[in-house]
Amino acid sequence: MMQPSDKALVPFVSVDNMMRLVHHIGLEKMITQIAAQIESDFKRWESFDKTPRIPAHSPHGVIELMPTSDGEAYGFKYVNGHPKNTSEGLQTVTAFGLLADVYTGYPTLLTEMTMLTALRTAATSALVGSYLAPKSSRVMAMIGNGAQSEFQCLAFKAMCGIDTVRLYDTDHAATEKCAANLKNSGLTVVLCKTPEDAIEGAQIITTCTADKKNATILTDNMVGPGVHINAIGGDCPGKTELHRDILLRSGIFVEYPEQTRIEGEIQALAEDHPVTELWQVMTGQAKGRRDDRQITLFDSVGFAIEDFSALCYVQSAIKGTDFFEPLDMLADPDDPRDLYGMLMRAS
Ligand SMILES: NC(=O)c1ccc[n+]([C@@H]2O[C@H](COP(=O)([O-])OP(=O)(O)OC[C@H]3O[C@@H](n4cnc5c(N)ncnc54)[C@H](O)[C@@H]3O)[C@@H](O)[C@H]2O)c1
Repeated sequence: MMQPSDKALVPFVSVDNMMRLVHHIGLEKMITQIAAQIESDFKRWESFDKTPRIPAHSPHGVIELMPTSDGEAYGFKYVNGHPKNTSEGLQTVTAFGLLADVYTGYPTLLTEMTMLTALRTAATSALVGSYLAPKSSRVMAMIGNGAQSEFQCLAFKAMCGIDTVRLYDTDHAATEKCAANLKNSGLTVVLCKTPEDAIEGAQIITTCTADKKNATILTDNMVGPGVHINAIGGDCPGKTELHRDILLRSGIFVEYPEQTRIEGEIQALAEDHPVTELWQVMTGQAKGRRDDRQITLFDSVGFAIEDFSALCYVQSAIKGTDFFEPLDMLADPDDPRDLYGMLMRAS
């Protein structure tokens, strides 16, 4: 068998190696560092190519491609969303992603992104929370206690000073799972039987449910003044979590309006309803929270630049480590135009 040359090899981070990397760095530290990378990339927003992600919808769920480039590196994520999957022993969301060198077009990193998506989503949420949530926030309601939930709780603990989480899920087994996982996290964990109970005394409300329809996880009367809402689960056409009246009372903050108007909570509003872009808040060009009575809403859908940031973070974190394996992914003929000869010599 012919040995692949160095040019053929692309560093590949498996799920196993991603988990080793997380334990090596520490989960909360890694979330905080990914958040810093996202923040610095959002602050150079104009250097990125941007497009709403490309979805393939089916009655079963959605498969999406999320590309972007800063002119030097190109990245994309493949991600699915299939709310029915957990009842079949499969995850709602799985993902992998790739970075490439714009100069040669050669891939420079291939990695699992199921774990990494949970980390970058939590990092983005807490980063946005650090700009918009009341500075005195200590209690977060966590509605939807599935795969993303622990990551969300720990990110808000690490970056926003949350010391108590109040958990609610329509499936109490998910709440018990989440509570058990957070047992030694340093968070006070309260198991709740209703969403009304969960939001009691919370300055931050995170909704992170999965349902392929317009659900009403929060009704208008549940949301008091001054609260920050981190709405994660409404991220597809016809898949939202909040009653429209909440949106009308909130200052709405989004990643990339062109995508959020298609996928986010604001699909329920007029196309010209005012929203604030987060990169502008981060660069100081737009105001964040107006006052301590304003309801701030992060209408999160997940945007390609967050994945690009996470990919770049992993690429630099694995340098000089053994948290990856070289993958023979690119054909590398001795004569670049003799791909056929390479194939024949391999027979
Ligand atoms: N915005 C983003 O960047 C981003 C990133 C990743 C995932 N997501 C979305 O976040 C959501 C959660 O993802 P996950 O991987 O944790 O999914 P999951 O299926 O593992 O968990 C979802 C949980 O929501 C619960 N649930 C469903 N309806 C509910 C309701 N009415 N009230 C309370 N709980 C309810 C389910 O019982 C389940 O435990 C999905 O909709 C996914 O598409 C968004």
